[in-house]
Amino acid sequence: MVLRIGHRGAAGHAPENTLASFRKAIELGLDMTELDVHVCASGELVVIHDENVDRTTNSKGWVSKLSLTELKRLDAGAGETVPTLAEVLDLLKDRIMLNIELKGLGTAEPVYKLIKETGWQNTNLTISSFNWESLTEYKQLDPDARIGVLTFRNHQEALEYAEANKAYSINPYHMLLKKKLVEQAHNKGFKVFPWTPNTVKDIQNEIKKGVDGVISDYPDRILHQE
Ligand code: G3P
Ligand code: MG
Repeated sequence: MVLRIGHRGAAGHAPENTLASFRKAIELGLDMTELDVHVCASGELVVIHDENVDRTTNSKGWVSKLSLTELKRLDAGAGETVPTLAEVLDLLKDRIMLNIELKGLGTAEPVYKLIKETGWQNTNLTISSFNWESLTEYKQLDPDARIGVLTFRNHQEALEYAEANKAYSINPYHMLLKKKLVEQAHNKGFKVFPWTPNTVKDIQNEIKKGVDGVISDYPDRILHQE
């Protein structure tokens, strides 16, 4: 079965990384959804993709320089606010699996603490990052965590890192993913979750490569296949 994984909630259907987007992911009956986290100036973990708020809100500024009170005043699209990770964990718990992408530096430890406080099970969670040091840090805090190694071009290094650090999955850029890498990853016991094909054709191409799940803004276009 190919897992249907929403990207930034289900970003093709609602403003990315907002509670509306995560509600949509639940409504679509997805297996999993993905989000990005940063730490804001007052120390809370907030769910937003970029280091600044310029692209996704009606304001400008660095997330790391804005307090949660300041961030909460912004419109993240369609009247939505920038959610905290705590809010999203509360909304999604026991409803859908989650892939937390550690985007900002210094997110591994606070994410780990919040996961333990909120009682999320590791089997419902993947921790992913392009910053593999953050993954190493998370794995040191929780050796049983499921780690997803995000990779753009450096596939062999990603496989080596995954082996050395007992990762759960390799998460490659879909356009550069070859069937051979899927086979290599499977032989070593890793799942493969490419991002972010959005057309039916591109999604089908990934499924033909034998991947275990697809991360998409339009996860409703991923047909479940045995
Ligand atoms: O986790 C997959 C995907 O989210 C990685 O790229 O830039 O959309 O966070 P990006
Ligand atoms: Mg992401």
